[in-house]
Amino acid sequence: MDFALTLALMDTSVADPLVGQVLDGRYRIESRVARGGMATVYVARDVRLDRIVAIKVMHAGLASDDDFVARFIGEAKAAAALSHPNVVAVYDQRTDGEHVFLVMEYVPGRTLRDLLTERGRLGPRAALEIMQPVLAALGAAHRGGLVHRDVKPENVLLTEDGQAKVADFGLARAESASKMTKTGLIIGTVGYLAPEQVLAGSADVRSDVYASGVMLYELLTGELPHRADTALAVAYKHVNEAVPPPSAAVPGLTPAIDALVTRATAHDPAARPQDANRLLGEVAEVFGGLPRDFDERVEEASRNQTAVLETPAPPPGPYAPQYGPPGGGRTAVLDPSGTAPVEPPPAAAPTARSARSPASTC
Ligand SMILES: Nc1ncnc2c1ncn2[C@@H]1O[C@H](COP(=O)(O)OP(=O)(O)O)[C@@H](O)[C@H]1O
Ligand SMILES: [Mg+2]
Repeated sequence: MDFALTLALMDTSVADPLVGQVLDGRYRIESRVARGGMATVYVARDVRLDRIVAIKVMHAGLASDDDFVARFIGEAKAAAALSHPNVVAVYDQRTDGEHVFLVMEYVPGRTLRDLLTERGRLGPRAALEIMQPVLAALGAAHRGGLVHRDVKPENVLLTEDGQAKVADFGLARAESASKMTKTGLIIGTVGYLAPEQVLAGSADVRSDVYASGVMLYELLTGELPHRADTALAVAYKHVNEAVPPPSAAVPGLTPAIDALVTRATAHDPAARPQDANRLLGEVAEVFGGLPRDFDERVEEASRNQTAVLETPAPPPGPYAPQYGPPGGGRTAVLDPSGTAPVEPPPAAAPTARSARSPASTC
Protein backbone atom coordinates (compact mmCIF):
# COMPACT_ATOMS: atom_id res chain seq x y z
CA MET A 1 0.00 0.00 0.00
CA ASP A 2 1.12 3.50 -0.78
CA PHE A 3 2.78 5.07 2.26
CA ALA A 4 0.84 8.32 2.12
CA LEU A 5 -2.41 6.38 1.86
CA THR A 6 -1.47 4.23 4.86
CA LEU A 7 -0.79 7.37 6.81
CA ALA A 8 -4.06 8.92 5.72
CA LEU A 9 -6.00 5.83 6.78
CA MET A 10 -4.25 5.71 10.13
CA ASP A 11 -5.00 9.35 10.52
CA THR A 12 -8.75 8.93 10.20
CA SER A 13 -8.81 6.18 12.79
CA VAL A 14 -6.71 7.97 15.39
CA ALA A 15 -8.02 11.46 14.64
CA ASP A 16 -11.30 10.84 16.41
CA PRO A 17 -10.64 10.97 20.12
CA LEU A 18 -13.76 9.03 20.96
CA VAL A 19 -12.71 5.88 19.13
CA GLY A 20 -11.50 3.39 21.76
CA GLN A 21 -13.24 5.16 24.63
CA VAL A 22 -15.96 3.59 26.76
CA LEU A 23 -18.96 5.84 27.30
CA ASP A 24 -21.02 5.52 30.44
CA GLY A 25 -18.96 2.50 31.46
CA ARG A 26 -20.84 0.47 28.91
CA TYR A 27 -20.42 1.46 25.25
CA ARG A 28 -16.97 0.91 23.72
CA ILE A 29 -16.65 3.09 20.61
CA GLU A 30 -15.18 1.01 17.81
CA SER A 31 -15.24 3.21 14.73
CA ARG A 32 -16.79 6.24 13.19
CA VAL A 33 -19.60 5.80 10.67
CA ALA A 34 -20.51 9.34 9.68
CA ARG A 35 -20.10 12.89 10.84
CA GLY A 36 -23.05 15.23 10.38
CA GLY A 37 -23.71 18.84 11.24
CA MET A 38 -25.05 18.10 14.67
CA ALA A 39 -23.62 14.77 15.69
CA THR A 40 -21.23 11.98 14.85
CA VAL A 41 -22.41 8.40 14.49
CA TYR A 42 -20.20 5.52 15.67
CA VAL A 43 -20.33 1.76 15.82
CA ALA A 44 -19.89 0.64 19.40
CA ARG A 45 -20.05 -2.49 21.49
CA ASP A 46 -22.47 -2.56 24.35
CA VAL A 47 -20.26 -4.50 26.75
CA ARG A 48 -23.08 -5.18 29.16
CA LEU A 49 -25.35 -6.88 26.64
CA ASP A 50 -22.42 -7.86 24.42
CA ARG A 51 -23.89 -6.60 21.21
CA ILE A 52 -23.05 -4.07 18.54
CA VAL A 53 -24.98 -0.80 18.60
CA ALA A 54 -24.81 2.55 16.83
CA ILE A 55 -24.12 5.60 18.96
CA LYS A 56 -24.94 9.13 17.90
CA VAL A 57 -22.90 11.62 19.90
CA MET A 58 -23.86 15.25 19.80
CA HIS A 59 -21.00 17.57 18.84
CA ALA A 60 -19.22 18.80 21.95
CA GLY A 61 -19.93 22.50 21.37
CA LEU A 62 -23.65 21.86 21.07
CA ALA A 63 -24.03 19.93 24.30
CA SER A 64 -24.11 23.22 26.21
CA ASP A 65 -26.89 24.57 23.99
CA ASP A 66 -30.20 23.78 25.67
CA ASP A 67 -32.12 23.87 22.37
CA PHE A 68 -29.91 21.28 20.78
CA VAL A 69 -29.95 19.05 23.80
CA ALA A 70 -33.73 19.28 23.89
CA ARG A 71 -33.95 18.41 20.20
CA PHE A 72 -31.57 15.53 20.66
CA ILE A 73 -33.50 14.09 23.55
CA GLY A 74 -36.65 14.70 21.50
CA GLU A 75 -35.22 12.45 18.80
CA ALA A 76 -34.72 9.68 21.33
CA LYS A 77 -38.26 10.00 22.59
CA ALA A 78 -39.82 10.31 19.14
CA ALA A 79 -38.08 7.26 17.76
CA ALA A 80 -38.43 5.28 20.98
CA ALA A 81 -42.19 5.75 20.82
CA LEU A 82 -42.20 3.93 17.48
CA SER A 83 -41.74 0.24 17.12
CA HIS A 84 -41.65 -0.60 13.45
CA PRO A 85 -39.38 -2.84 11.37
CA ASN A 86 -38.61 0.08 9.04
CA VAL A 87 -37.73 2.57 11.75
CA VAL A 88 -34.23 2.52 13.26
CA ALA A 89 -34.84 1.47 16.86
CA VAL A 90 -33.56 3.77 19.59
CA TYR A 91 -32.49 1.94 22.76
CA ASP A 92 -31.33 4.63 25.10
CA GLN A 93 -30.28 8.22 25.63
CA ARG A 94 -27.37 8.92 27.99
CA THR A 95 -24.98 11.61 29.08
CA ASP A 96 -21.38 10.97 30.03
CA GLY A 97 -19.51 14.10 31.06
CA GLU A 98 -19.69 16.44 28.08
CA HIS A 99 -21.00 13.69 25.78
CA VAL A 100 -24.72 13.57 25.12
CA PHE A 101 -25.61 10.52 23.05
CA LEU A 102 -28.24 8.18 21.70
CA VAL A 103 -27.85 4.43 21.57
CA MET A 104 -29.61 2.77 18.69
CA GLU A 105 -29.87 -0.29 16.56
CA TYR A 106 -26.84 -0.54 14.28
CA VAL A 107 -27.91 -0.85 10.66
CA PRO A 108 -24.93 -2.09 8.67
CA GLY A 109 -25.04 -1.18 5.01
CA ARG A 110 -25.37 2.15 3.31
CA THR A 111 -27.80 4.95 2.81
CA LEU A 112 -30.23 5.45 -0.02
CA ARG A 113 -28.06 8.43 -0.97
CA ASP A 114 -25.11 6.08 -1.50
CA LEU A 115 -27.21 3.82 -3.70
CA LEU A 116 -28.49 6.76 -5.72
CA THR A 117 -24.98 8.15 -6.17
CA GLU A 118 -23.78 4.76 -7.38
CA ARG A 119 -26.64 4.21 -9.82
CA GLY A 120 -27.31 7.77 -10.96
CA ARG A 121 -31.02 7.11 -10.81
CA LEU A 122 -33.25 4.14 -10.07
CA GLY A 123 -35.59 2.35 -12.42
CA PRO A 124 -39.25 3.12 -11.72
CA ARG A 125 -39.97 -0.28 -10.17
CA ALA A 126 -36.87 -0.07 -7.99
CA ALA A 127 -37.79 3.47 -6.92
CA LEU A 128 -41.38 2.56 -6.09
CA GLU A 129 -40.23 -0.59 -4.33
CA ILE A 130 -37.90 1.31 -2.02
CA MET A 131 -40.49 4.00 -1.31
CA GLN A 132 -42.83 1.43 0.23
CA PRO A 133 -40.94 0.56 3.44
CA VAL A 134 -39.99 4.23 3.80
CA LEU A 135 -43.64 5.25 3.60
CA ALA A 136 -44.62 2.42 5.95
CA ALA A 137 -42.16 3.80 8.51
CA LEU A 138 -43.42 7.36 8.06
CA GLY A 139 -46.97 6.03 8.15
CA ALA A 140 -46.30 4.51 11.56
CA ALA A 141 -44.98 7.88 12.74
CA HIS A 142 -47.97 9.67 11.27
CA ARG A 143 -50.40 7.34 12.97
CA GLY A 144 -48.83 8.42 16.23
CA GLY A 145 -49.15 12.09 15.27
CA LEU A 146 -45.43 12.42 14.67
CA VAL A 147 -43.94 14.37 11.75
CA HIS A 148 -40.42 13.34 10.65
CA ARG A 149 -39.58 16.67 8.95
CA ASP A 150 -36.34 15.55 7.37
CA VAL A 151 -37.27 12.94 4.79
CA LYS A 152 -34.41 12.50 2.31
CA PRO A 153 -32.20 9.72 0.95
CA GLU A 154 -29.46 10.31 3.56
CA ASN A 155 -31.91 9.37 6.28
CA VAL A 156 -32.91 6.05 4.73
CA LEU A 157 -30.56 3.25 5.73
CA LEU A 158 -30.36 0.15 3.55
CA THR A 159 -29.19 -3.16 4.93
CA GLU A 160 -27.22 -5.66 2.91
CA ASP A 161 -30.25 -7.95 2.74
CA GLY A 162 -32.35 -5.24 1.17
CA GLN A 163 -34.32 -3.83 4.10
CA ALA A 164 -34.87 -0.08 4.40
CA LYS A 165 -34.98 1.72 7.73
CA VAL A 166 -35.77 5.36 8.34
CA ALA A 167 -33.37 7.14 10.69
CA ASP A 168 -32.88 10.59 12.11
CA PHE A 169 -36.01 11.64 13.90
CA GLY A 170 -33.92 14.57 15.14
CA LEU A 171 -36.33 17.13 13.79
CA ALA A 172 -39.42 15.08 14.49
CA ARG A 173 -42.09 16.80 16.47
CA ALA A 174 -45.53 15.86 17.65
CA GLU A 175 -48.00 17.31 15.20
CA SER A 176 -49.65 19.49 17.80
CA ALA A 177 -46.34 21.11 18.68
CA SER A 178 -45.02 21.51 15.17
CA LYS A 179 -46.42 24.89 14.23
CA MET A 180 -43.06 26.42 14.72
CA THR A 181 -39.71 25.27 15.90
CA LYS A 182 -38.59 26.47 19.25
CA THR A 183 -36.14 28.87 17.67
CA GLY A 184 -38.61 29.94 14.97
CA LEU A 185 -36.35 28.75 12.19
CA ILE A 186 -37.28 26.73 9.19
CA ILE A 187 -35.76 23.33 9.59
CA GLY A 188 -35.56 20.37 7.28
CA THR A 189 -33.29 20.13 4.30
CA VAL A 190 -34.16 22.83 1.85
CA GLY A 191 -34.34 20.57 -1.23
CA TYR A 192 -37.32 18.72 0.26
CA LEU A 193 -39.11 21.59 2.02
CA ALA A 194 -42.84 21.87 1.49
CA PRO A 195 -44.21 25.32 0.58
CA GLU A 196 -46.01 25.65 3.92
CA GLN A 197 -42.73 25.09 5.75
CA VAL A 198 -41.15 27.92 3.79
CA LEU A 199 -44.11 30.27 4.04
CA ALA A 200 -45.41 29.70 7.52
CA GLY A 201 -42.84 27.52 9.21
CA SER A 202 -45.52 24.97 9.86
CA ALA A 203 -45.18 21.28 9.18
CA ASP A 204 -47.70 18.51 9.52
CA VAL A 205 -47.75 14.95 8.28
CA ARG A 206 -48.54 16.25 4.80
CA SER A 207 -45.17 18.03 4.73
CA ASP A 208 -43.57 14.59 5.00
CA VAL A 209 -45.79 13.51 2.09
CA TYR A 210 -44.41 16.43 0.06
CA ALA A 211 -40.81 15.53 0.95
CA SER A 212 -41.53 11.91 0.02
CA GLY A 213 -42.83 13.08 -3.36
CA VAL A 214 -39.64 15.07 -3.89
CA MET A 215 -37.58 12.06 -2.89
CA LEU A 216 -39.51 9.86 -5.32
CA TYR A 217 -38.83 12.41 -8.07
CA GLU A 218 -35.15 12.32 -7.15
CA LEU A 219 -34.98 8.52 -7.16
CA LEU A 220 -36.64 8.40 -10.58
CA THR A 221 -34.59 11.12 -12.25
CA GLY A 222 -31.36 11.29 -10.23
CA GLU A 223 -31.90 14.98 -9.59
CA LEU A 224 -33.82 17.21 -7.27
CA PRO A 225 -36.74 18.96 -8.96
CA HIS A 226 -35.72 22.43 -7.82
CA ARG A 227 -32.14 23.54 -8.03
CA ALA A 228 -30.61 26.98 -7.59
CA ASP A 229 -27.44 28.64 -6.39
CA THR A 230 -28.59 29.37 -2.87
CA ALA A 231 -30.65 27.46 -0.36
CA LEU A 232 -33.04 30.37 -0.15
CA ALA A 233 -33.61 30.38 -3.91
CA VAL A 234 -34.38 26.64 -3.75
CA ALA A 235 -36.85 27.25 -0.93
CA TYR A 236 -38.65 29.86 -3.04
CA LYS A 237 -38.85 27.53 -5.98
CA HIS A 238 -40.78 25.15 -3.75
CA VAL A 239 -43.21 27.99 -3.11
CA ASN A 240 -43.47 29.38 -6.61
CA GLU A 241 -42.99 26.45 -8.95
CA ALA A 242 -44.59 23.06 -9.33
CA VAL A 243 -42.47 19.94 -9.19
CA PRO A 244 -42.28 18.90 -12.84
CA PRO A 245 -43.53 15.48 -13.89
CA PRO A 246 -40.55 13.10 -13.74
CA SER A 247 -41.28 11.89 -17.30
CA ALA A 248 -40.09 15.28 -18.53
CA ALA A 249 -36.60 14.22 -17.40
CA VAL A 250 -36.90 10.47 -17.99
CA PRO A 251 -39.09 9.67 -21.00
CA GLY A 252 -40.97 6.42 -20.64
CA LEU A 253 -42.23 7.00 -17.12
CA THR A 254 -45.98 6.47 -17.17
CA PRO A 255 -48.66 9.09 -16.46
CA ALA A 256 -49.51 7.12 -13.32
CA ILE A 257 -45.95 7.61 -12.03
CA ASP A 258 -46.09 11.30 -12.93
CA ALA A 259 -49.39 11.60 -11.12
CA LEU A 260 -47.93 10.09 -7.94
CA VAL A 261 -45.21 12.73 -7.82
CA THR A 262 -47.54 15.55 -8.80
CA ARG A 263 -50.15 14.65 -6.21
CA ALA A 264 -47.66 14.14 -3.40
CA THR A 265 -46.02 17.48 -4.13
CA ALA A 266 -49.20 19.50 -4.63
CA HIS A 267 -48.72 23.00 -3.24
CA ASP A 268 -51.93 22.81 -1.31
CA PRO A 269 -51.47 20.24 1.48
CA ALA A 270 -55.18 19.40 1.21
CA ALA A 271 -54.63 18.19 -2.37
CA ARG A 272 -51.94 15.68 -1.34
CA PRO A 273 -52.52 12.15 -0.08
CA GLN A 274 -53.29 13.00 3.54
CA ASP A 275 -50.54 10.99 5.17
CA ALA A 276 -47.77 8.55 4.32
CA ASN A 277 -50.11 5.57 4.63
CA ARG A 278 -52.35 6.99 1.91
CA LEU A 279 -49.38 7.68 -0.32
CA LEU A 280 -48.14 4.16 0.38
CA GLY A 281 -51.46 2.78 -0.91
CA GLU A 282 -51.11 4.79 -4.13
CA VAL A 283 -47.45 3.83 -4.61
CA ALA A 284 -48.24 0.14 -4.11
CA GLU A 285 -51.03 0.32 -6.66
CA VAL A 286 -48.88 1.97 -9.33
CA PHE A 287 -46.03 -0.45 -8.57
CA GLY A 288 -48.41 -3.40 -8.96
CA GLY A 289 -49.49 -2.14 -12.38
CA LEU A 290 -45.99 -1.99 -13.87
CA PRO A 291 -44.77 -4.93 -15.93
CA ARG A 292 -41.92 -6.88 -14.32
CA ASP A 293 -39.44 -5.88 -16.99
CA PHE A 294 -40.48 -2.24 -16.96
CA ASP A 295 -37.16 -0.92 -15.59
CA GLU A 296 -35.24 -2.62 -18.40
CA ARG A 297 -37.67 -1.22 -20.93
CA VAL A 298 -37.26 2.31 -19.60
CA GLU A 299 -33.47 1.93 -19.58
CA GLU A 300 -33.43 0.63 -23.12
CA ALA A 301 -35.81 3.31 -24.33
CA SER A 302 -33.68 6.04 -22.86
CA ARG A 303 -30.57 4.50 -24.49
CA ASN A 304 -32.21 4.18 -27.90
CA GLN A 305 -34.66 7.04 -27.51
CA THR A 306 -37.58 4.80 -28.40
CA ALA A 307 -41.04 4.40 -26.88
CA VAL A 308 -41.41 2.19 -23.82
CA LEU A 309 -45.01 1.13 -24.23
CA GLU A 310 -46.26 -0.36 -27.46
CA THR A 311 -49.11 2.10 -27.50
CA PRO A 312 -47.34 5.20 -26.35
CA ALA A 313 -49.04 6.82 -23.42
CA PRO A 314 -50.33 10.33 -24.07
CA PRO A 315 -47.84 12.95 -22.96
CA PRO A 316 -48.65 14.50 -19.60
CA GLY A 317 -50.66 17.63 -19.96
CA PRO A 318 -49.07 20.99 -19.42
CA TYR A 319 -48.68 21.65 -15.78
CA ALA A 320 -48.85 25.02 -14.20
CA PRO A 321 -47.94 26.11 -10.73
CA GLN A 322 -51.11 25.88 -8.70
CA TYR A 323 -50.17 28.82 -6.63
CA GLY A 324 -48.86 32.00 -8.10
CA PRO A 325 -46.41 33.83 -5.95
CA PRO A 326 -48.35 35.43 -3.16
CA GLY A 327 -48.29 39.19 -2.99
CA GLY A 328 -47.71 39.76 -6.70
CA GLY A 329 -44.51 37.85 -7.01
CA ARG A 330 -43.28 38.47 -3.53
CA THR A 331 -43.17 35.68 -1.06
CA ALA A 332 -42.97 35.67 2.65
CA VAL A 333 -40.51 33.74 4.71
CA LEU A 334 -40.71 32.99 8.34
CA ASP A 335 -38.67 35.43 10.28
CA PRO A 336 -36.59 34.10 13.12
CA SER A 337 -38.65 35.82 15.76
CA GLY A 338 -41.71 34.15 14.31
CA THR A 339 -43.68 37.37 14.45
CA ALA A 340 -43.78 38.87 10.99
CA PRO A 341 -43.31 37.73 7.43
CA VAL A 342 -40.22 39.24 5.88
CA GLU A 343 -39.17 39.73 2.30
CA PRO A 344 -36.58 37.31 1.07
CA PRO A 345 -33.19 38.93 0.71
CA PRO A 346 -32.34 38.71 -3.01
CA ALA A 347 -29.34 36.43 -2.95
CA ALA A 348 -28.35 36.43 0.65
CA ALA A 349 -26.71 33.51 2.31
CA PRO A 350 -29.36 31.25 3.78
CA THR A 351 -30.40 32.18 7.24
CA ALA A 352 -33.16 29.68 7.36
CA ARG A 353 -31.36 26.93 9.17
CA SER A 354 -28.92 26.99 11.93
CA ALA A 355 -29.11 23.43 13.14
CA ARG A 356 -27.56 21.91 10.07
CA SER A 357 -26.30 23.38 6.91
CA PRO A 358 -28.87 23.12 4.10
CA ALA A 359 -26.22 21.43 2.05
CA SER A 360 -25.54 18.96 4.83
CA THR A 361 -25.28 15.50 3.45
CA CYS A 362 -26.68 13.64 6.35
N1 LIG B 1 -28.35 3.29 13.35
C1 LIG B 1 -27.43 3.52 12.40
N2 LIG B 1 -26.72 2.50 11.87
C2 LIG B 1 -25.79 2.75 10.90
N3 LIG B 1 -25.52 3.95 10.39
C3 LIG B 1 -26.20 5.00 10.86
C4 LIG B 1 -27.18 4.84 11.89
N4 LIG B 1 -27.72 6.05 12.17
C5 LIG B 1 -27.08 6.91 11.36
N5 LIG B 1 -26.18 6.31 10.57
C6 LIG B 1 -25.31 6.97 9.57
O1 LIG B 1 -24.97 8.24 10.07
C7 LIG B 1 -25.49 9.27 9.21
C8 LIG B 1 -25.98 10.44 10.04
O2 LIG B 1 -26.98 9.99 10.93
P1 LIG B 1 -28.27 10.86 11.22
O3 LIG B 1 -29.03 10.21 12.32
O4 LIG B 1 -28.99 11.08 9.93
O5 LIG B 1 -27.61 12.19 11.79
P2 LIG B 1 -27.64 13.71 11.36
O6 LIG B 1 -28.58 14.31 12.35
O7 LIG B 1 -26.23 14.16 11.51
O8 LIG B 1 -28.14 13.79 9.95
C9 LIG B 1 -26.57 8.59 8.37
O9 LIG B 1 -26.75 9.23 7.14
C10 LIG B 1 -25.99 7.20 8.24
O10 LIG B 1 -24.98 7.19 7.24
MG1 LIG C 1 -29.53 12.69 8.86
